[in-house]
Amino acid sequence: MASPPHRLRRILLGACALVVTLITAISAGVAWTWVSADVSTVGTTTFDQPLKIPPLADSTVDAEGTRTFSLDMRAGTTEFEPGRATETWGFNGSYLGPTLRAARGERVRVQVRNQLPEPSTVHWHGMHLPAAMDGGPHQMVDPGATWTPEWTVAQPASTLWYHPHPHGATEDHVRRGLAGMFLIDDAASTELPLPNTYGVDDIPVIVQDMRLRGNRFDGSHAIFRDIGFLGDRTMVNGTLTPYHQVGDELVRLRLLNGSTARIYTFAFDDARPFAMIGSDGGLLERPATVDRIQLSPGERAEVVVRVRPGERTVLRSEKLEAGLNFWGNRFAGGDDTFDVLELRAAAVLRPSPALPETLVPLSIPEGSESVVQRRFELTLAGINGVRMDMSRIDTTVTRGTTETWEVHNIDGMPHNFHIHDVQFRVLAYDGAPPPPELTGAKDTIFLPPNTAATLALRFDGPADPNTPYMYHCHLLWHEDAGMMGQFTVVEPGQQAATPPRHGH
Ligand code: C2O
Ligand code: CU
Ligand code: CU
Repeated sequence: MASPPHRLRRILLGACALVVTLITAISAGVAWTWVSADVSTVGTTTFDQPLKIPPLADSTVDAEGTRTFSLDMRAGTTEFEPGRATETWGFNGSYLGPTLRAARGERVRVQVRNQLPEPSTVHWHGMHLPAAMDGGPHQMVDPGATWTPEWTVAQPASTLWYHPHPHGATEDHVRRGLAGMFLIDDAASTELPLPNTYGVDDIPVIVQDMRLRGNRFDGSHAIFRDIGFLGDRTMVNGTLTPYHQVGDELVRLRLLNGSTARIYTFAFDDARPFAMIGSDGGLLERPATVDRIQLSPGERAEVVVRVRPGERTVLRSEKLEAGLNFWGNRFAGGDDTFDVLELRAAAVLRPSPALPETLVPLSIPEGSESVVQRRFELTLAGINGVRMDMSRIDTTVTRGTTETWEVHNIDGMPHNFHIHDVQFRVLAYDGAPPPPELTGAKDTIFLPPNTAATLALRFDGPADPNTPYMYHCHLLWHEDAGMMGQFTVVEPGQQAATPPRHGH
């Protein structure tokens, strides 16, 4: 039997060994988490599935000229890979929804039927419309119920979209498949010589990331991902490994970041320049030549790319360059790269007219007419330090006025900022005049840590003191966690009413 000093030494040695083992295990775990935290599909994507083009939604026009669409929210199954059925949600189908299309000045009505097992809403992202028609968290539609908003389209040609907005469950509902495009046309854009044949030279490109575990969607958040859900593959219009055959020299892509948290930096595999012609709220004043475009969740960009006969070119998403630190970039998915969509040009291409030098005059406010300045500070803990409360109105604005909003990301992680009902002008971005791609109408803006944007916005819709609109981070898990506030548009001198806690 060992004498007491020997026993002590043995205990100490054992304890040391245990500590060393623990440290090794923890560092291996951290290293593994680090190494496995970036994904890339560049160079390994097979591009063997033809790109699905969401169908244009049917509609009927009644005697008064109102155009009526129907959207049924349903649960179903989708085969992203042949022979593997995944449970998904969709509008009028099993995944995503049809493209709604209407002209400026038209009266539209949408019959939204909820056939899901839980309450949801449908919000028209980017649309200028009365608050009661907005489809935010106060316009919940119960299972089995129908909600029929209607409004008059009163904004320029643009690429908008629709998706659910139930408070606390938006990330889940969008990730399961509930999203679609809403295109607006107007005379000014139709007269321009731009590619505009839907699905042929004018292509909806809804980009989402996903992860499959067996047959199921895996929506879990990995360790350290305080950005929310990040998938390990991308799809376009619900198509994994998509290719699209093109027959025209110029192809217009309507890019929508329909992901819940991922930020994309779109570029072509040969770094070819392309023209950006539109942002969230419509066409720019003139095309901007760029070789990459960054889109955070909810943002859109319309781009026109030239292809050569017989070639194949790949739209990619490159690493994020947003000034995040090493660790922050990795866990925000910023080191990830994706092959997104292959364009296959026909051997003989139809000639396309050259892009016009100028597009449309902008109708967003200049900022000089602003009567109120406000400041918004973003952190994951809330906007201006408070979490969303459906029964609290955070901001009351007066109909017919312009305001300047300064939005600061004072957090260590990326956020963005989306405002319902309006399209704003970016007066300054990160302390400088906005770059060309931020000069048009916007409703969502990306804000890396320690950046700020100054926005000019005009509230010219109808006042409704009883119904608020939302502003929020469009990283949907952040929104669900309470990075959202409410604003109400009132007539001069009027007070906003306190909304009921529940939106039913
Ligand atoms: Cu795209 Cu408040 O939403
Ligand atoms: Cu919105
Ligand atoms: Cu955020």
